[in-house]
Amino acid sequence: MKKVLKVVLLTIAGLVVLVGLAAAIISFRGIPKYEAKKVDLKIESTPARVENGAKLASMLCRSCHYNDATHRFTGRELTEVTQFGKIYSQNITNHPESGIGKWTDGELVSFLRTGTKPDGQYVPPYMPKLAHISDEDMSSIIAFLRSDNEWVKANATKLPACNPSFLTKFLTNIGAFKPFDYPEKPIPQPDTTNTVKHGEYIALYQLECYACHSKDFSKNDYLVPSKSAGFFGGGNKMFDMEGKPISTLNITVDEKTGIGKWTEEEFVKAIKFGIVPGNQPALRYPMNPYSNLTDKEARAIYAYMKTVPKIDNLVERKAAE
Ligand code: HEC
Ligand code: HEC
Repeated sequence: MKKVLKVVLLTIAGLVVLVGLAAAIISFRGIPKYEAKKVDLKIESTPARVENGAKLASMLCRSCHYNDATHRFTGRELTEVTQFGKIYSQNITNHPESGIGKWTDGELVSFLRTGTKPDGQYVPPYMPKLAHISDEDMSSIIAFLRSDNEWVKANATKLPACNPSFLTKFLTNIGAFKPFDYPEKPIPQPDTTNTVKHGEYIALYQLECYACHSKDFSKNDYLVPSKSAGFFGGGNKMFDMEGKPISTLNITVDEKTGIGKWTEEEFVKAIKFGIVPGNQPALRYPMNPYSNLTDKEARAIYAYMKTVPKIDNLVERKAAE
């Protein structure tokens, strides 16, 4: 008996040492590096692209990169994701040293699609990637980043580098978070004459509504979004500006627990202005109003949502504390 106990104790001690060692290695190693996909392209800037890019950036980049003090995309500390560490979205103005003035178009596209910077540094999901946005929309974003728009005019502000938490280091080291593959084929524009297809493109590949509105970021299928756990059924735990928990809501057309009773007008008003039916407070961060969507685009999302299978999942909308 005594011998067995000794073996058990020794095994436990061994495991403790191993786990400690693994933790020390992960801590020291930090976020793993990857080889950045080399992309050779030069994007032509046209007024239409800059305009479309500004609209997309207002919905896809502004919430993290805009700085209230500089009125430019000089970045800020992301206080809403402290569990992932001390995270600073960086300066992405055209400044050659502090910003992205020296990045090539190919480096930008490669990073925005995969999440790996030119030097191999991988950025975990505290910055979303645009793995499936159309090539034309991607070109618009690059044209905008290079433009003389106020938001991206060179500014020398420099932010500290991110200091990821052990949790982030752990999740990236076990491969729970890792870069996306660079697309093998060109990604065409959606057919905007087909309302449902157009809405599907916006909700899944352009603004990625499902990524927040499904069950859990880690259970999303970014290749085949409809295979994500609890697809559009809400309940994904996120954080508000103060870092307090806030759940995403069920936006399937389930009559009891989703938005099945909403009219098209109510839906458009909710996503463009954050105003919801009934006597309810306006939608809060991180659900930023998509005020730059056209009514046609907002309606297209609604038409698509009607084709998504209903999920019976009640998520209580808690009032802000
Ligand atoms: C949810 C927050 C968030 C959003 C939205 C976001 N970013 Fe970022 N971005 C970050 C963070 C955080 C970093 C810093 C990551 C690091 O250095 O590890 C970053 C880094 C970058 C970098 C690298 C800068 C450098 O010098 O290393 C570029 C380029 C960039 N973002 C572009 C964009 C563009 C373009 C968009 C919109 C299409 C966007 N980001 C949307 C959070 C965000
Ligand atoms: C960054 C994460 C995020 C993204 C992206 C996002 N949402 Fe939301 N959404 C939320 C959160 C969180 C709430 C709950 C806000 C609250 O309780 O005030 C919400 C609420 C909503 C509601 C209100 C539902 C109700 O029952 O009141 C609708 C409708 C909605 N989102 C639609 C969309 C659509 C459509 C898109 C894409 C264009 C989208 N959301 C993108 C996080 C997100």
